[in-house]
Amino acid sequence: MTKRTAGPGGTGAAIETSGLVKVFGEKRAVDGVDLTVPAGTVYGVLGPNGAGKTTTVRMLATLLRPDGGEARVFGHDVAREPDAVRARVSLTGQYASVDEDLTGAENLVLLARLLGHRKPAARDRAAQLLEAFGLTEAADRQTKTYSGGMRRRLDIAASILNTPDLLFLDEPTTGLDPRSRNQVWDIVRVVVAQGTTVLLTTQYLEEADQLAGRIAVIDQGRVIAEGTPGELKSSVGAGAVHLRLRDPEQRADARRVVAKVLNAPVQLAADPLALTARVMPSGAGSTEPAELAARALAELAGQGITVDDFSLGQPSLDEVFLALTEKSGDRKSDTSMTKEAAA
Ligand SMILES: Nc1ncnc2c1ncn2[C@@H]1O[C@H](COP(=O)(O)OP(=O)(O)O)[C@@H](O)[C@H]1O
Ligand SMILES: [Mg+2]
Repeated sequence: MTKRTAGPGGTGAAIETSGLVKVFGEKRAVDGVDLTVPAGTVYGVLGPNGAGKTTTVRMLATLLRPDGGEARVFGHDVAREPDAVRARVSLTGQYASVDEDLTGAENLVLLARLLGHRKPAARDRAAQLLEAFGLTEAADRQTKTYSGGMRRRLDIAASILNTPDLLFLDEPTTGLDPRSRNQVWDIVRVVVAQGTTVLLTTQYLEEADQLAGRIAVIDQGRVIAEGTPGELKSSVGAGAVHLRLRDPEQRADARRVVAKVLNAPVQLAADPLALTARVMPSGAGSTEPAELAARALAELAGQGITVDDFSLGQPSLDEVFLALTEKSGDRKSDTSMTKEAAA
């Protein structure tokens, strides 16, 4: 995958940053970030806790001043023309804006009035958004009674009362159950279909994969990879095989067998029964991942190694990081594997 440092003449970009830096004391929270976000798309910024996602978003939304580098939003410099930037963007997570004691409908009408809409227009827009986000039935309940998913949807609704040209969604689904997560994804699709550019930060590869046209993977304040979801995943491997054995004594043997068949490194998870391997597209000619996994299972059975559980899935974020940091020579140890990767 190639890292794009400049768009074609800078046209059509909603966001362009170069060498963006933010320092907190000794900590370089954002350490030279280059991003080009094409207008009219969903752009994913994918990274673990502490990677620098929120700090980047806050600089782009003019809430924090950069300590170095440059950032332009629709051509306007965030440091020199903050008002021009603010006129075009909206950010979720402004929790102060939603009043817990008001109902969902009252909140949206109030905020629309604050934005200058007359009462009938404010009511219409609120009703329209409540309907679009599946909140009509809850419209007349106080928002303190809302579930996490409903609250998140109301936050997004509040941020698009006036359709912004650029919407920042900072981890909009963290902590939500799968059903609520899907509802938020649908909302993001509606928003982008109406012409808004969305910059979405997330810790989930699957979420970026579902929504984003391009993804920047960031770690420790730096972009470590950039590309389409397909480019990112194929750079990491076609998929990941997760195995759970019956007997922990057999794990070393299983590791050898699987590594040989898949021609790929095998990670030992924290669970003493589990191991995980990436299926590399270049590792074994053009053989399909499922075919390779089946061969590995047959070979394990042939050697008397009992497998209790097996799955073939796309790489987890952990595996993406492992692969990307291995590639850049900055090896992480097996202990960085989380339960998610072992599951
Ligand atoms: N106001 C602040 N003061 C000091 N350190 C901060 C501040 N905000 C963020 N950081 C640090 O900067 C790094 C990046 O944080 P953040 O941008 O919130 O990451 P993310 O959103 O990806 O989880 C973290 O190490 C965090 O502790
Ligand atoms: Mg954050």
